[in-house]
Amino acid sequence: MMSAGFPTIPEWGRYGVKLVDNGFISPRGSAVRGCNSRAAFGTLSPEDEMCDTRWHSRFWGERIVSNRVNVLNGWRKNYAMSNYANYTVASEDYDKTRAAVGVDTILGCLARTGVRLGDQTVLEAGCGTGNYLEALRPHLACLAGIDFSEGMLAQARTKLSEDVELTCGSILEMPYGDERFDGITCNQVIHHLEEGPGASDDPADWKPCQFPNVTQFFQEAYRVLRPGGAFVINATSHDQFRDGYWWADLIPVAVARLSCRMPDLDKLKQILTTAGFDIETVSADLDGILQGPSYLDPQGPLGEAWRAGDSTWSLTSDAELVDARQRVERMNAEGTMQDYLDERERKRLDIGQTTFVCGRK
Ligand SMILES: C[S@@+](CC[C@H](N)C(=O)[O-])C[C@H]1O[C@@H](n2cnc3c(N)ncnc32)[C@H](O)[C@@H]1O
Repeated sequence: MMSAGFPTIPEWGRYGVKLVDNGFISPRGSAVRGCNSRAAFGTLSPEDEMCDTRWHSRFWGERIVSNRVNVLNGWRKNYAMSNYANYTVASEDYDKTRAAVGVDTILGCLARTGVRLGDQTVLEAGCGTGNYLEALRPHLACLAGIDFSEGMLAQARTKLSEDVELTCGSILEMPYGDERFDGITCNQVIHHLEEGPGASDDPADWKPCQFPNVTQFFQEAYRVLRPGGAFVINATSHDQFRDGYWWADLIPVAVARLSCRMPDLDKLKQILTTAGFDIETVSADLDGILQGPSYLDPQGPLGEAWRAGDSTWSLTSDAELVDARQRVERMNAEGTMQDYLDERERKRLDIGQTTFVCGRK
């Protein structure tokens, strides 16, 4: 029997699809993999793990969305997750194209709470491969990280000592007691929480997002933070999505898609305030480069591993990616790439790539 609404897992099998890791669906079967799922559903082959994330995002990612994975209730409930970036695959190369930007800003916000940094217990929500945890570790008493992706956490374990508590789980329903943390930081995760604007490539068809998952996450953060504690969000504003990354100009529709998933700064502040936080500071980081030294590689967009360093590339259509690659090849061949990079860099230096919002409970 087919259900009237969203298909159940056995029904997905009939469609010849399966869900892998962060809710990705592959056309090759009906098994499921993810946190704690190996025992229940078996392990996928390397070929399955490498299944084409762009295919997912284009044909299913926009429809099979975050919270609807609740059909897996009892297995992993209410795990809003990125439905366009496959972090099992990305985890392999993630650290080659990522740097922890703004660590001093995070420490500054935490330090203003009245408790010595060296006495604080701090959580990173969506900790990924642990770059921020590693940088924060020497300054704080205790650190914990939670992330949905086992692949990312596996990388984190290689660089962190065992006294950093790592948990595989969703930041929408965190397995921590009330008021457990002196501080919480969340770096570059918010834009992964919401459903995309729909499969159409025409922005006129896109429906605006109400940000239910961001709202739920902020409420959870408020619950597990002690009164007076700081909640430091590092996120990219809509303007920064557009002008803070040189290559964003090559893939404007993907960038617009990404912006739909991310509350603009006013909305972000409003959701924070509604959750109970006071907004203490909002500051753009004008220097930090998230992609680290590989950022200005003039051939970068031609390489899959380089593109995997920023999930915006997963939101391109085939046609947009082909166009972008051709532009890069042409500019490199004609010798105009450096001028283009210089012009784009002027904009980045003006606006930065990330914004830090510091909320206080
Ligand atoms: C761009 S990475 C950022 C990782 C790390 N914070 C950093 O800045 O290097 C986004 C991370 O958010 C995680 N993530 C997305 N949605 C999540 C959710 N609902 N619960 C837990 N982690 C989530 C992904 O698995 C991924 O590791």
